Amino acid sequence: MRPRFAILISGRGSNMSALLAAREQIPAEFALVVSDQGDAPGLLKAREQGIPVAVAEKEKGQTKAMHEAALSHMLAEAGITHIALAGYMRLLSPSFLDRFDAVVNIHPSLLPAFPGLHTHARALAAGAKVHGCTVHLVDAGMDTGQIIAQAGLDVRLDETPDTLAARVLRLEHTLYPLALTTYLNGKLTPPASQLNELGR
Ligand code: GRF
Repeated sequence: MRPRFAILISGRGSNMSALLAAREQIPAEFALVVSDQGDAPGLLKAREQGIPVAVAEKEKGQTKAMHEAALSHMLAEAGITHIALAGYMRLLSPSFLDRFDAVVNIHPSLLPAFPGLHTHARALAAGAKVHGCTVHLVDAGMDTGQIIAQAGLDVRLDETPDTLAARVLRLEHTLYPLALTTYLNGKLTPPASQLNELGR
């Protein structure tokens, strides 16, 4: 059966847009976009790209387990089998993750370096000479799941966190559809020839 994906977002949704723009090439069906923020700009973009959207905010008084149960119910109703996280700002619990065939994420660093937030500023502060992004399977840890693919670039001498973020984001938009396709085709590493085409 063709994997039936939901994309989970919390904000801008540029990686979501990149996946949706490439959906003819990805062996999957993108059935739903869900945001945990009702005002996420990505929701509008998803609508423009013709995808059903839903909002699952964590309401006041709701525990993490209750919020995940509501989200899980919503995804089950839509027949979702796989999840792609695209800037979704919550850690998911093992019992939630176990309900799906796979949950993948894109992270703006070359993991295992710089898990968590503010990766570009931290990479610069550490004097990193290369930086980039990672598509990985999601497990219960913070950015610790098995790596599917990475793309890197050379850090420039005059780089700021903003310039680095913009350059890495462009890489993310190419890497995510490519890595997802590779993964769904049963491989864990894209062919070197394809990775070499990603810009430096
Ligand atoms: C991206 O940098 C992604 O790697 C990280 O969160 C950011 C989301 O940006 N997980 P966008 O919402 O996809 O534009």
